[in-house]
Amino acid sequence: MLHLGVITVFVGHVLGLLVPRRWTAALGISDRFYHLISVTAGTLAGVVIVAGLALLVARRVHLSALRRSSTATDVVMYALLAVVVLLGLWAKAGVNMLGQGHDYRETVAVWFRGVLVLRPDASLMTGVPVLMQLHTLAALALMAIWPITRLVHAWAVTIGVLWRPRPVRVDRPHAG
Ligand code: HEM
Repeated sequence: MLHLGVITVFVGHVLGLLVPRRWTAALGISDRFYHLISVTAGTLAGVVIVAGLALLVARRVHLSALRRSSTATDVVMYALLAVVVLLGLWAKAGVNMLGQGHDYRETVAVWFRGVLVLRPDASLMTGVPVLMQLHTLAALALMAIWPITRLVHAWAVTIGVLWRPRPVRVDRPHAG
């Protein structure tokens, strides 16, 4: 559940943060349709992550072998991941579903693309609702500790699968 939810939210964040509005508009995706998919699929995926996270933590607490092998880094990572996801859901519900709304595609997304090209414009983040600012800050903290936590498996496994040696089939002629 955690992985399914995270992959869905990852795709949603790529769409929301990396793809400018004019590109989705050029593909015929209206703001209304974008918002509908974001609210339904995004919220569902976030709730699935929370449920998956709760199950994984319960498993880690109840199985004594797993509990004994858990490190302080695991605890910090699980706590920070939960904070990031809960703040993301809270920002979505509190600002864009129940609140006055905020068009993050014109602020957070433009700032985030600036970070990727090493020219971030921090002023774009000043008028952003606090919940979205806190979610972004927590996400950056999670990215900072990522390489020293077990989350590193996300890249290690992906690279391992893409570059693993392929089995070679050798057809031998029948003897006799
Ligand atoms: C710096 C990186 C990130 C930025 C700038 C960012 C930004 C945002 C924004 C603006 C929203 C609100 C969307 C809306 O109102 O519709 C959101 C929602 C959310 N974020 Fe992030 N986020 C980041 C990283 C992450 C990470 C690493 C996770 C961890 C899984 C995450 C999980 C979520 C979840 C669960 C939601 C609510 C559901 C959804 O809209 O997908 N975010 N994020």
